[in-house]
Amino acid sequence: MSFAGRIAVITGASSGIGWALARALAAQGCKVGLVARRREQLAALAAEIEKSGGIAAYAVGDVSERQQALDSIHEVAGRLGPVDLLVANAGVGAPTTVEPLNVGDVEKMFRVNVLGVVYSLEAVLPQMLERRSGHLAAVSSLAAYKGLPGESGYTASKAAVNVFMDGLRVQLRSKGVAVTTICPGFVKTPMTEVNEFKMPFLMSAEQAAERIVAALKRKRKVYNFPWQLAFMMKLSRWAPDWLLDRMMHTYNEKPPFPKTPL
Ligand SMILES: NC(=O)c1ccc[n+]([C@@H]2O[C@H](COP(=O)([O-])OP(=O)(O)OC[C@H]3O[C@@H](n4cnc5c(N)ncnc54)[C@H](OP(=O)(O)O)[C@@H]3O)[C@@H](O)[C@H]2O)c1
Repeated sequence: MSFAGRIAVITGASSGIGWALARALAAQGCKVGLVARRREQLAALAAEIEKSGGIAAYAVGDVSERQQALDSIHEVAGRLGPVDLLVANAGVGAPTTVEPLNVGDVEKMFRVNVLGVVYSLEAVLPQMLERRSGHLAAVSSLAAYKGLPGESGYTASKAAVNVFMDGLRVQLRSKGVAVTTICPGFVKTPMTEVNEFKMPFLMSAEQAAERIVAALKRKRKVYNFPWQLAFMMKLSRWAPDWLLDRMMHTYNEKPPFPKTPL
């Protein structure tokens, strides 16, 4: 599939993977719609894309608020045209503590990471069904494959995304709408910059974006990368609790919270 002239909307485009993905899709000839909460970052990215000959439109919106998600995506679609590809990438992460249980952070992760995906897809699905054509993608995580101590909330939110997308993919199979779940390992972005441990197989946002674009082109069902970490995560499902407890013990003594609270 060629991306030339296609219209792609990316949520969470103001930073990290979403930023790099928007640039990579624009470089392939896509007209890109950029959505996130921070206006200045979106404006800077749109200007950069336009300067290099691409076409971009942006709209500010919080995807965890249903109406804002719908309005912002409709706004960029109104300027660019009917959406061929929607990448629900916006996400947040924070450790889960038990003394006390940080319920507010868990709620926020579910609102953005899970409901944010659902609302974003809702914005484009009717038109895709009408046209019997389109591609829905969500950026989940390899963290979806195992509930990790100290990351219960984040891993559960990503597991929910994977399962939601799995069901949707089969349901939309005969309706002309493709569904892709993207599960990256560690990517160097503001989200991971607070991590003090050595992140295995860490890659740049540009490298991740390049791989994601290739997976989207091939309409992969589920794209897990890098394969080495995907293999380790799937293997960890059989790891005994005592081993995971020991491996994550230091992490849980001083878990890395984001610089800006969720
Ligand atoms: N980095 C990794 O190692 C890694 C690994 C696996 C999966 N992921 C996933 O990849 C996605 C992108 O993460 P990243 O690493 O690129 O992190 P990032 O640099 O922190 O970017 C997160 C993006 O999401 C946006 N966002 C957050 N909350 C939002 C909300 N309520 N409404 C709209 N936009 C919102 C942010 O923009 P605003 O703040 O401007 O709204 C930002 O553009 C996330 O879903 C993350 O879970 C990351």
